[in-house]
Amino acid sequence: MAVFDPVIDEQTPAADFTIAQKWDRYTAEEHAAWDTLYARQVEITRERSVKEFRTGLGLLDLGSGGIPDLDVINPKLKALTGWEVVMVPHLVPDEVFFTHLANRRFPAGRFIRKPTQLDYLEEPDIFHDIFGHVPMLTLPVFANYMQAYGRGGLRAKSLGRLKELARLYWYTVEFGLIQRPSGLKIYGAGIVSSAGETPFSLDSPSPNRIGFDLERVMRTDYIIDDYQQLYVVIESFEQLLGATQQDFGPIYDRLSADETRYTVTDLIEDDQIITRGTQAYAAAKAG
Ligand code: PHE
Ligand code: FE
Repeated sequence: MAVFDPVIDEQTPAADFTIAQKWDRYTAEEHAAWDTLYARQVEITRERSVKEFRTGLGLLDLGSGGIPDLDVINPKLKALTGWEVVMVPHLVPDEVFFTHLANRRFPAGRFIRKPTQLDYLEEPDIFHDIFGHVPMLTLPVFANYMQAYGRGGLRAKSLGRLKELARLYWYTVEFGLIQRPSGLKIYGAGIVSSAGETPFSLDSPSPNRIGFDLERVMRTDYIIDDYQQLYVVIESFEQLLGATQQDFGPIYDRLSADETRYTVTDLIEDDQIITRGTQAYAAAKAG
């Protein structure tokens, strides 16, 4: 169920599904929710996030008080990498989403979670979308990756490969980890915007953590309603962009020819295992 937001519901979206942010219409409570979430996540991600993420937060001044005004952050983002943030009402069709990315527009939700739901969200809100995703868009290599992903999404859709391509987004853009000399760091938006998953993703003995392998990722299921039981670790953003610049046509052909698929708990012979999980968290949940 979509969260009710009158400023969304009163608008008729444009053909590309965008709406106006109408920043003046946010209430004091909504701004306060941003400030609470921001203060908490900045604190908890300080030692755990990749430094480029924190640099991005600063470049865009996302903690200047209240929900960011797109008219203020977009000129800064545009000057850095040519990206901008657009507002959309809740989720948009895949094709619309990919077309925005392919044109360096990041679609973000307008609404912010209620104070009673600070920890649990059914659909991405503006805090997840802007705090989680937008700082990394200030980094040129990551900005390029996101645009390439949008183009690749349009192609995957026409080839019937969205399911496999979505796994790449999930294990990188949303829940990606990166290896740094000082240890594993988080960069995925789903992690950095979550107070629970920020420590879980790095510190919990439960999940498996494996090195990035494009085809392996595309063969692997994911869970959307709980902490991940598998995290994929890149060595650098250049590695990620480099691996995805190849033509995926032959990969898609192999995915058809060999229908081997993996669950979130499977480990395979070729995996570069960084930490072998106990799966205790998932087992406890299953009761
Ligand atoms: N190279 C991919 C293709 O040929 C496109 C892509 C780039 C997909 C980056 C995802 C990320 O389809
Ligand atoms: Fe997201």
